[in-house]
Amino acid sequence: MLKIDHLSTSYRTIDGKVHVVNNLDFTIRDNEIFGIAGESGCGKSTLLKAIYDIVEFPLEIDSGRVILSGEKDGRPFSCESGEIRKTWWNHISYIPQAAQSVLNPITRLKAQFLDSVPEKIRERESDQHILRQVGQYLEELDLSPDLLNAFPFQLSGGMRQRVIIALATFLSPNVVLADEPTTALDVVVQRGILMMLMRLQKQLKNTIVLVSHDMGVHYQVTGRMAIMYSGSFVELGKTEDIFRSPIHPYTTMLIGALPRVGDRGQKIGIPGQPPALTDPPSGCRFAPRCPEATERCRCEVPAFREVKPGRFVACHM
Ligand SMILES: Nc1ncnc2c1ncn2[C@@H]1O[C@H](COP(=O)(O)OP(=O)(O)OP(=O)(O)O)[C@@H](O)[C@H]1O
Ligand SMILES: [Mg+2]
Repeated sequence: MLKIDHLSTSYRTIDGKVHVVNNLDFTIRDNEIFGIAGESGCGKSTLLKAIYDIVEFPLEIDSGRVILSGEKDGRPFSCESGEIRKTWWNHISYIPQAAQSVLNPITRLKAQFLDSVPEKIRERESDQHILRQVGQYLEELDLSPDLLNAFPFQLSGGMRQRVIIALATFLSPNVVLADEPTTALDVVVQRGILMMLMRLQKQLKNTIVLVSHDMGVHYQVTGRMAIMYSGSFVELGKTEDIFRSPIHPYTTMLIGALPRVGDRGQKIGIPGQPPALTDPPSGCRFAPRCPEATERCRCEVPAFREVKPGRFVACHM
């Protein structure tokens, strides 16, 4: 469905190129919620931008591509980086990080829904007809159709996020990219948003790519997930397996640091800091923080390989 084919991206800065996504190669399937976790600055949002084809200065694709293929309304389709933007909303949609600010503050929500509908449909059908369908869709999502007459600033943070999710899913896209959709919301609202995403995925049987630094969110919502560190994936597999038996030392330490009900032991953080992307260490980028690192780890970049069926890890150990 969504093939990330040896993708590398960088930002052009006054100090030179900063390589942010390094040779990522993986597939996201039909009908799954795929999670991407990792520390701030590891490149999660950059990866989503490259998938969604928002590759604009200073971001560049250095090598590789993204291929989006599938079937919609009985018709097969396939497109790749450079063409994906032509299928926005219809085949793929994107809920950006800090999505609260993507709604235009000076237009009513109905105008923003109409804007998302492709020209072809707007030429064929009246705005009234489209808005009636939007209203029905909002009702299905337990939102009032009256919201269409509201301005974004009249909505609470949680409500705005629900509207953005409704906007991103109204045309039943095959893939929805959601970048930190619950950050900055309290836990009750967060739960409501996650339930809404899960319900929509079940209904549409499509693919949701969920980026979050919150491992608890991944545990509750995703079926498979990847752990990202300094621009690369260090582990990928079924979420359940990753939590039950993490393989990469970084994943093991991340999961070991999670609080658990009833556990009175002291939690140990991961020592050190992620490396600067402008001057990354040679070899495995986690080696300077890894308790198991050897000389080989400091010199040789570990390959990201399948160590068990469906389980990929980048570690010499
Ligand atoms: N426009 C830009 N120009 C230069 N560097 C950038 C730009 N945008 C992001 N970066 C750098 O790219 C790296 C990855 O950023 P990105 O936003 O993808 O991280 P992230 O994993 O999404 O982090 P967070 O969890 O904080 O959202 C960071 O080091 C960041 O400073
Ligand atoms: Mg981000």
